[in-house]
Amino acid sequence: MPLHVLDHPLAGHLLAELRDKSTAPDRFRVLTDSLTTLLVLQATYLIRTKVDCVQTPIKATNVRVLDQGLAVVPVLRAGLGMLEPTLRLFPNVAVGYIGLERHEETAIARSYYSKLPDLTDRFTLCVDPMLATGGSASQAINLIKAHGATQVTMVSIVSAPEGVAVLQANHPDVNIVTASLDECLNDKKYIVPGLGDFGDRLYGTS
Ligand code: PRP
Ligand code: URA
Repeated sequence: MPLHVLDHPLAGHLLAELRDKSTAPDRFRVLTDSLTTLLVLQATYLIRTKVDCVQTPIKATNVRVLDQGLAVVPVLRAGLGMLEPTLRLFPNVAVGYIGLERHEETAIARSYYSKLPDLTDRFTLCVDPMLATGGSASQAINLIKAHGATQVTMVSIVSAPEGVAVLQANHPDVNIVTASLDECLNDKKYIVPGLGDFGDRLYGTS
């Protein structure tokens, strides 16, 4: 399925400040929120709609309204920064949580938590700001599909080509929407140029 890289001047502008190592956590959270809004708008472009009819003050008119439930699954911890903006856009969204943590040396993700609703017929977004090796995203989507999801979009802020390739190989039916396709991974499996450790920068830890 396609990879969509946001091509909006505002997305580039917000990402520039997010990458800057001098950006402090309070500002980093605001930028994450704004970028996620742009990403989720793009990621939900294909959600099912139907024609309805409303009465304006002037006359009755046909309108297009949403006709499919949405679900969002943030991957803890960094994905939590992408939850609130999604809830603001889609207040009736069903929320599931998946906890994954990469091992510091091997970069292999370990699952430590999962709580997911029934995702059958829901347009499902898996949100995690960094798609690096693709291991976390692949594991998360395994769990999401095991809960009935058949229409899944991975929403990331920064992606590495290696992670995109792994995710596309493991889940060829999943759309990927990202704000940037970066150069590569370094020897510690961090994205280059990337922005460092997203969770640490979001929550002021290191
Ligand atoms: C980061 C990020 C992804 C993962 C991406 O999480 O939020 O979940 O790494 O890397 P991958 O594509 O190589 O799997 P991390 O494991 O650092 O946990 P945290 O969000 O709790 O800091
Ligand atoms: N996780 C991060 O937070 N940053 C990276 O560059 C890779 C994985």
